[in-house]
Amino acid sequence: MNKFELDTPALLIDFDKLENNLATMQKIADANGVKLRPHTKTHKTPYIAHLQRRAGARGITVAKLGEAEVMNAAGLDDILVAFPLQGAAKIERLLCLAERAQMRVSFDSLKVAQDISEAARQRGLKIPFYIEVDTGLHRVGIPPFEATRDFARAMLQLRGIEFFGLMTHAGHAYAAKTLDEIAALGKREGEVMVETAEMLRADGIETREVSVGSTPTARFAAQVKGVTEIRPGTYALYDTNQTHKFACAWDDCAQTVLLTVVAKHSDRLIFDGGSKTLTSDRGPDGAATFGAVVGFPNLEIYALSEEHAHVKSRDAGPLPDIGAKVQVIPNHACAVMNLHNQFVATRGDQVVGAFEIAARGKIR
Ligand SMILES: Cc1ncc(COP(=O)(O)O)c(C=O)c1O
Repeated sequence: MNKFELDTPALLIDFDKLENNLATMQKIADANGVKLRPHTKTHKTPYIAHLQRRAGARGITVAKLGEAEVMNAAGLDDILVAFPLQGAAKIERLLCLAERAQMRVSFDSLKVAQDISEAARQRGLKIPFYIEVDTGLHRVGIPPFEATRDFARAMLQLRGIEFFGLMTHAGHAYAAKTLDEIAALGKREGEVMVETAEMLRADGIETREVSVGSTPTARFAAQVKGVTEIRPGTYALYDTNQTHKFACAWDDCAQTVLLTVVAKHSDRLIFDGGSKTLTSDRGPDGAATFGAVVGFPNLEIYALSEEHAHVKSRDAGPLPDIGAKVQVIPNHACAVMNLHNQFVATRGDQVVGAFEIAARGKIR
């Protein structure tokens, strides 16, 4: 079947592009001698996690225990939950997973560490953990250098957890405007982490992993000697945000949403997908459009209702007619995956399969 015969809205993933994206990031990891532990919150689909593993990834990252449960049920067995797990309910789920998979956690507080440690100790388990270091995002994370070393020292007392390494996410790179800035932030991300790891080692604290990465910075941070692992996620699919952050070319964007033109007026077109289909994410720079319409660079999705995209032309360029189907590259691939139950796999214009997005909605 040709993809343009599909009923709309339909979420499409071009598998030629997906596979190319996975192979390219794996090559970056291999060339720099670092492990790739992709963040699977982007695709939320076990099959794609398996493709990443087959391409050479060593373990996966998730943000949510629900994602970990889905991935583990599908056979993924080395999982970092890169989110501070708080509360007895979550710790119980973590320990259930840890009984059958290699689970790792990250955190930045004594309270989270103590709670996981105590529960794990009572079950006879030892959970490996990363200390999350703040290299500039100012979200979760301990300041680097002495503060991280002091925290690591305090961790040595806890019997139910085992220090494994340091991790950071340079999400602040999304505010950068030039490739030079992103390259400098990526390099700094790696250097700060390696220097901090050296401080811990000088203190006698074995530090195996130095884990870094966002999609824009991964290829720069990976080059810093001493970094051992990168964790990009969005690289699997890419999106308009990533093109603006120089992480990919437009042609690398594997995710699109197929929509139909359902109304045409003198000043606007209406497509049959709105915020419930594309998300209302304008990206870090507040883009004017809620996605890029493939083949129509003149079109701007200037507003979204829940089920309608409001589209205008920036110039006198061509306009699709009512009934025409158009592909939109979303601004933020990860958020779009979380809205859809399944996606259609394509190669070129041909439909080659359909997959359940099994971890969509797993926000707990
Ligand atoms: C802790 C952590 N690691 C890795 C990533 C992946 O980064 P990106 O979305 O830039 O691929 C994220 C993204 O939010 C993250 O929060």
